[in-house]
Amino acid sequence: MHPDDIAVRYDCIAQWWQTQHQNSLYGIAQLERAIKFTPTKQLALDIGCGSSGRFINILNEQGFQVEGLDISQEMIDLAQQLHPDNTFYRADICCWNPPKLYNLIVAWDSTFHLPLDRQEPVMKKLCNALEPEGVLMFTCGGGYKQSEVSGAFQGQDFEYSTLGVNAFLQILTEHQCTCLHLEYDQYPENHVYIIAQKI
Ligand SMILES: C[S@@+](CC[C@H](N)C(=O)[O-])C[C@H]1O[C@@H](n2cnc3c(N)ncnc32)[C@H](O)[C@@H]1O
Repeated sequence: MHPDDIAVRYDCIAQWWQTQHQNSLYGIAQLERAIKFTPTKQLALDIGCGSSGRFINILNEQGFQVEGLDISQEMIDLAQQLHPDNTFYRADICCWNPPKLYNLIVAWDSTFHLPLDRQEPVMKKLCNALEPEGVLMFTCGGGYKQSEVSGAFQGQDFEYSTLGVNAFLQILTEHQCTCLHLEYDQYPENHVYIIAQKI
């Protein structure tokens, strides 16, 4: 599914997402783990930040200057209303060129929507956008093979893809990153989160 089609679907549920996830604890312990691994708490980027600003809240509290990026205009507009002092980019991560280097980049349940052939170039881009010792946390589908799945969520059809865990680890290694943590955090769901650090 093209990212523009993903954006249209998230536009439709952006308000619901904000209400539903405002105080959600989903992914928060994992974010806190990534923050602990981040030696310099200066500049952070939340990719596919959504409308709730829940990660942005925590990163702000931890002293980061935080930027959010999302392909959905509705998500970005709602997030910006909650966080008028933060910088937001309305962009497809596939086409966006990072304007600076970040100490922490998080992509929680966002890049798993990319078309399969966009996974590798985007992962390379994120590795290359890290400061030395910078940390990247992202979620992906688990397993050792590449795969694509689709599913309905809040009345919208979405698609997901993964390269498989081994391929993600290989991309990280090839781009001067080392894996610090990898977990099937919702087992038996095929959902993995990875924390890696630029070496
Ligand atoms: C499942 S939501 C997660 C939102 C937020 N990370 C959270 O956990 O509350 C996925 C988000 O990723 C965004 N997204 C999906 N594909 C994207 C892309 N190619 N570029 C930027 N954002 C994207 C969607 O618009 C949506 O806001």
